[in-house]
Order: sequence, then structure tokens, then C-alpha cells
Amino acid sequence: MNLNALSYSDLTELRSLAERVARDAGTHVRNLREKGVTVAAAKSSPVDIVTLGDQAAEQIIVAELRDWRHSDAILGEEGTNRAGASGITWILDPIDGTTNYFYNQPNYCVSVAACVADTSYSEGYRAVAGAVYVPTSAELFSAAAGLGATLNGKKLRINEAAPLSESLIATGFGYSAKKRARQAEVLLEVLPRVRDIRRSGSAAYDLCALAAGRLDAYYEAGLKVWDYAAAELIAREAGATVTGAAAAGVISSKPGTPLLIAGPAETVKALQPLLPALK
Ligand code: IPD
Ligand code: CA
Repeated sequence: MNLNALSYSDLTELRSLAERVARDAGTHVRNLREKGVTVAAAKSSPVDIVTLGDQAAEQIIVAELRDWRHSDAILGEEGTNRAGASGITWILDPIDGTTNYFYNQPNYCVSVAACVADTSYSEGYRAVAGAVYVPTSAELFSAAAGLGATLNGKKLRINEAAPLSESLIATGFGYSAKKRARQAEVLLEVLPRVRDIRRSGSAAYDLCALAAGRLDAYYEAGLKVWDYAAAELIAREAGATVTGAAAAGVISSKPGTPLLIAGPAETVKALQPLLPALK
């Protein structure tokens, strides 16, 4: 399956389904949060937690997708890995920003993307439709390939490129202490050269915020495919260039896990030499 095999109505149907399931799961986790939060487990490190809300949201999304699209594959952060025969893989982050959810901070969201295989991305998937729902603000970001990106139905456009020194840049940090130490070193190079740095705690939200002009650019090393699948499409459809490391001495120049950089083409070009992909 590739993008060209999908019709306008295929794309709009996939987008509507992504919107519906992201909203349903997001509403559920917000309601759950009002009753408190329960940590179900720690994952890659003691600070990388999964709550009952993450698990419940993934179950809701998987059940709805299976009802509507039983021959699609599904890959979810909390362990879903179902094969499918249609060529579409749904990639889910049931709560992106779990630490914010745990502390009852508002920046968490549900991310749902319908993807096709694409070797120009480091994880080999590219979203053709997707939605990110922020339940605390009832903001629904969505996009379909070639059809633009919207926030609650209103068209999104990134900011015009500004000099790096006047650009507001978002980034994030992984969960391993070793990676964080390297990410802090990179930040030492970036921070003196930009307007300021933001760290929202949700990669999916950061990419949507870029799409909405709330930031000028975003970069992060070490993302997982579910962190960026839907929101990367939303940012790109709002006009962002999305790429990986610079060409010389790279681990991979494809956007994705070693490094993802997004923003206006000129800003991405100015940021690239400052950002080595971190292993
Ligand atoms: C995390 C968030 C965070 C980013 C981390 C991700 P999670 O996802 O997106 O902003 O910096 O790299 O792992 O754990 O909240 O789903
Ligand atoms: Ca995530």
C-alpha cells in the first residue's frame, strides 16, 4: 500500500476514524484522571511510567479500530502489535505526555495515525491520516496527506521562518540518564542561539503546537514512532519541513528515532548543524 493507492474518500474516512477514536480515548482518560491516577508499571527506567489511563486508552482505541477496520495492523505504545492484510498500520500513543498526566498537568494527548510503509522514515512508516486530541483543552488536531491540517476544523499554518535568534524552539528528553546527559550537552549549544526553549512534556503536542504557530521549530532525539506518527503529518500538512540529521557524519538523515527536526525549511537548516543524532 502506498499513498497513491488511497482515494480522497479513503483519506477522509481514515482521518474521521482517527479523530473519533482519539477523542473517545481522550475523553475517557480525562474522566479517569479526575478520580486520581494509578501507576501500573515502570518501563525503560523508574521515571518512565505507564498508568491505568494509558492502558485503558489503548484498549478503547484498539477495540474501536477493530470494529471499523478489522484487516488493518495496529501498533501501540502499551504493547499492541497486531498484524493486518490491508497495508494500513494504525500507530497509537494512548497518552503522550504520561508524566504530565501523572502530575495532573494539562499537556497530555492521545495520538492516532493511519500509516503506510515508507522507507524515507527511519521507522519505515509514514502517516496518511491522523489525529491528536488534547482532552484538557478539547483541542482536536488532525490532518490527511495532501488535504491540510486543522485544529477543531480551522486550517493550520506554521509561522514564517524567523532568524534562529528570534525562534522559539521546543524539544524533549528521553528517559535514560545517559541520553539525557547528551541531550543537555546539545541544549548548551542551542539555547544561547535561539529566542528561548520550551519543553511541554509531549512530543505529539509539540509538533501540533508548531503546526498552530505556538512554536517556531521542534527537535528531539530518541523519539519512538508512536510519539510522532500523527503529529508529524499534522506539522507537515501545516507547512513544516520534517527531517533527520544533517548529511555529514550522520547516523541517519531520515526523520524518526535517531533525530527528528521540524519547522520552516530555513529554520530546520539552521538547526541541523547544532543537532547530532544521539544513539
Ligand atoms: C514522551 C513525551 C516527551 C518526550 C519523550 C516521550 P510518553 O512520551 O512525548 O515529550 O520528550 O521522548 O517518550 O512517555 O509521555 O508517552
Ligand atoms: Ca509518547
